[in-house]
Order: sequence, then structure tokens, then C-alpha cells
Amino acid sequence: METIRPTLVVNTSAYHKVDVVEENTDRAVAVNAMGPRNLALACRGLDAVLMHMSTDYVFSGRKAAPYVEADPVDPVNVYGVSKAGGENFVRYLWPKHFIVRCSGLYGVAGSSGKGGNFVELMLRLALRGGPIRVVDDQTLTPTATRALAAQIAELSRTTSYGTYHATCQGQCTWFEFAAEIFRQARVSPPLYPQTTADSGAKARRPGYSVLENENLKRLGLDRMPPWQEALAEYLAERTATRA
Ligand SMILES: NC(=O)c1ccc[n+]([C@@H]2O[C@H](COP(=O)([O-])OP(=O)(O)OC[C@H]3O[C@@H](n4cnc5c(N)ncnc54)[C@H](OP(=O)(O)O)[C@@H]3O)[C@@H](O)[C@H]2O)c1
Repeated sequence: METIRPTLVVNTSAYHKVDVVEENTDRAVAVNAMGPRNLALACRGLDAVLMHMSTDYVFSGRKAAPYVEADPVDPVNVYGVSKAGGENFVRYLWPKHFIVRCSGLYGVAGSSGKGGNFVELMLRLALRGGPIRVVDDQTLTPTATRALAAQIAELSRTTSYGTYHATCQGQCTWFEFAAEIFRQARVSPPLYPQTTADSGAKARRPGYSVLENENLKRLGLDRMPPWQEALAEYLAERTATRA
């Protein structure tokens, strides 16, 4: 950063495989809390704006209504605790920040840490032909990275620093998301709902982590599309890329 002397730093780095993170608290704190702390200090030193990506997993899901930015965080797993810590360091150390919480990301590049994305995983499983089981007791808003990238670019052109929720509009369970992927892709593999308990996940997860883009709306800046529309755009882009 000393060499490049950026005016804006977008921090998308994270240690985020939630079940693996549950067993590796030290690393989670290093990457998800101390990393943002160090970046906030570096940004302060250079007077650079810090755009820090965070997550719906800072919430427990007990609210059972869309979370707004002013809701207190109450994470239920190590990943969420460490990301909440990162947010707090950024807030505490450097006022020229945007903390952007998103959820259920998918994009053409895929998540490098998680190896691909949920849409591609579902389409691969559909090709294999066996029964597909997807959890139906976690509600969120799947969010396309293309829409999110445009949204944070627009936000970065303002000086309205603070915490923002930026997800697509609407909500669904992972099972409903899978069903919509198959509907739009015109495939009909055998798809069955599953509970989180039956999925064998190690870490607890919020049952309801829908985020309301309240602060973006207040500024008249909420450009996020309905999640079904963003999915259609992703599937079209994916097809065009592969053609
Ligand atoms: N994926 C989701 O559904 C989701 C949902 C809500 C919020 N988020 C947040 O959105 C952001 C991006 O997530 P993503 O899934 O798109 O992630 P991703 O593609 O896996 O990217 C994470 C990046 O973090 C880097 N990284 C990991 N450990 C590092 C370290 N010690 N030092 C420097 N870089 C390190 C990785 O670098 P290498 O490639 O070199 O390993 C990778 O490029 C994260 O802040 C995440 O918490 C994601």
C-alpha cells in the first residue's frame, strides 16, 4: 500500500469455510479480524477509504424479520464472531470506511476459498443425476456478485461512510434457491428438502439471515435487483461465456 498509495481499498479477503473455521479460531481471528484491523490502520496512514466486505453471519437469525444495519450483531459461529470483530476494528480505527454486509454470493469467477459457487454446484449435481438434498431451514437472499460490484462501485463514489446491507431483493431458503436454479436452467433432477441438523454441518448457522438494504434505500442508492432476476442474468452470462 505504501508503494501503490491507493485512494480506495476494497477488502474482499476472508477465511470463510464456516465448518472448517469453527475448528480454527486463531486463523479466523487473524484473517477476519486482525487483517481488517491492519488494513484500517494502513488506510488511516494513507488517508485511503476502506470498503470492507462483511456478512449476514454476524446475525443469529433469531429476529425472524429482515435485519437492518442498526440491529445489534449476535453471531452464532466462529466465522460470524471473527467477522463481527473485523467490522468493529474498522469502525473503531478509521471513520472513512464502508462496511458492506452481503449474503449467499455467487458469480462467474466463483469463490476461490469455497471452490466455485452454489449455482454451479447444483448444475453439476443435476448432470450427475442422483438425488439432491438441500437445506430448507435457512432463509437468506442469494446475491449475484455482478450486481453487488456495481452497487459498491456506486457507494464508493459517495462520502456517506458507515455500515450497509447490500443483498438482492427478496428471500428464499437454499432449497428454494436450488429449485429456482433448476427451473430457470430447464432441468428437473430429483430435489429434496433437508434440515440443517440432517446435513451434518459442524457449525451453527442463522436460520434467518435476510438483510434489509435500509441505509442504501435511505440514500436513494439501492440498485440491487430481485434475486430471481440476478440469477437469470447470471445463467445468461454463464452460457454466453461458455459458448
Ligand atoms: N461467499 C459468500 O457467500 C459470502 C457471503 C457473505 C459475505 N461474504 C464475504 O464476502 C467476501 C468475499 O467472499 P468470497 O466468497 O467471494 O471469497 P473468495 O472468493 O474465497 O475470496 C477470499 C479471498 O481471501 C483471500 N485470503 C484468504 N486468506 C488470506 C490471507 N491470510 N491474506 C490475504 N488474503 C487472504 C483469498 O486469497 P487466495 O485466493 O490467494 O487464497 C481469496 O482471494 C468475504 O469478506 C466474505 O466474508 C461472502
